[in-house]
Amino acid sequence: MNLDPDLLQRLAAKVGTPFWLYDARIIRQRIEEVRFMSKAPGVQARFAMKACPATRVLREMKAAGIWIDSVSGNEALRALRAGFSGGHRPPEICFTADVFRDNSLPVILENELLPNIGSPGMIRELSKAGYGGPISLRINPGFGHGHVNACDTGGPSSKHGIWLDDLFAVKNAAEKDGMSVTMLHAHIGSGPQYQELHENLTRLAIEFKELLPHFPTLTAISLGGGIPHNYREHGSQVPIEPLHELFTTCHQRIVAAARRDLRLEIEPGRFYVAPGCALITRVADIKRTRTNEKGPGVTFAMVDAGFVDLVRPAMYGSYHHIDVVGCDDKDPNLPREPIVVAGPLCESGDVFTRDERELLQPRLLPCIEPGDLLAIRDAGAYCYAMSSNYNSIGRAPQLWREEGGEIEIISRRETVDDLLRIETENEPVALA
Ligand code: LLP
Repeated sequence: MNLDPDLLQRLAAKVGTPFWLYDARIIRQRIEEVRFMSKAPGVQARFAMKACPATRVLREMKAAGIWIDSVSGNEALRALRAGFSGGHRPPEICFTADVFRDNSLPVILENELLPNIGSPGMIRELSKAGYGGPISLRINPGFGHGHVNACDTGGPSSKHGIWLDDLFAVKNAAEKDGMSVTMLHAHIGSGPQYQELHENLTRLAIEFKELLPHFPTLTAISLGGGIPHNYREHGSQVPIEPLHELFTTCHQRIVAAARRDLRLEIEPGRFYVAPGCALITRVADIKRTRTNEKGPGVTFAMVDAGFVDLVRPAMYGSYHHIDVVGCDDKDPNLPREPIVVAGPLCESGDVFTRDERELLQPRLLPCIEPGDLLAIRDAGAYCYAMSSNYNSIGRAPQLWREEGGEIEIISRRETVDDLLRIETENEPVALA
């Protein structure tokens, strides 16, 4: 991603820091790569929009013919407002969840979205709400991998999906209530190693093949998402051609086994967007602790972004590359120092340089001074999407850089009025 220091300083002066900078060219390139992987007729890609629900990004997906996987009523409404269609033919928006919350049931019913059921009791709820259309069943096949345990969604410890032994009971309950199972689905983890992904998807396709005879009403099989992005080594990303072959072969085998046309779906989230955004933050101060009997001293670069903006390091110990804007990252002669990059929140864990065991991991960075800008890279997936208002901090603005260089604000910084808008006064709860 092009991080021109002069441009970033000018943008910072205009919109303040921190801010998010998306790069249209990189996102479009990743979209093209997914289109290539799924280019065989009968293979359809969705975007797991939880990774980055910005309308600007959704419109890119729509224009590229990619469908949507949503996880809440509001996500589905965002997709509809961005131009995706409701309805079952084709089911452009799928709703995958393990719990119906808030407006999800009415949104599904009103817009005829395809519900992808992750918990047996959801059939009862759909039926009670008067739904009698097609459904998808999400299975937990008993195996999976993620980049950390919290992102492994297959196996006995995962809360996601219907355990295989319960699948037929759920199918029977659904059919008894007038619903037909048109899709079988599994998502077995987010961000696994490439080899794990390949092996798991192959194994999953075989499991689905065995289930086919029991599901005569199926029109599609979904292998879920999970295509990883390499945050540490940019030059080493998943190979596109073997994934194209894998999806094409899985589709062919499933169609051959079913002896009729079935769609094969994939629904990556991270892969499309991870490299296409950086979080730009300003160094407010440099301070040091000194070694004592409790542990070694640390140099802290105090920045104005925190885990309210980007929670992945604090939550999973995830690695995000950090550039000091204006320093050549590759220059071996640049003096460097081990630095912990920490944010403004009232939490000791508000640091961007940690490992999986939640320990500080000082990063060797070129010498930093107050006023410098840092770019926290690969912040397109599950970053803004997971941001919060902890400490009453407003979400930072999102900027979008077009291929020609024009920059547009796609969301502004939240103000205290935005935060207070939902508060009420003198509004008694009128209990029945
Ligand atoms: N489909 C379903 C049903 C999912 O639950 C997910 C991700 C995906 C597709 C997309 O997975 P992807 O292609 O992005 O790996 N917050 C975590 C990731 C959580 C993923 C949740 N589900 C992170 O920051 O790494």
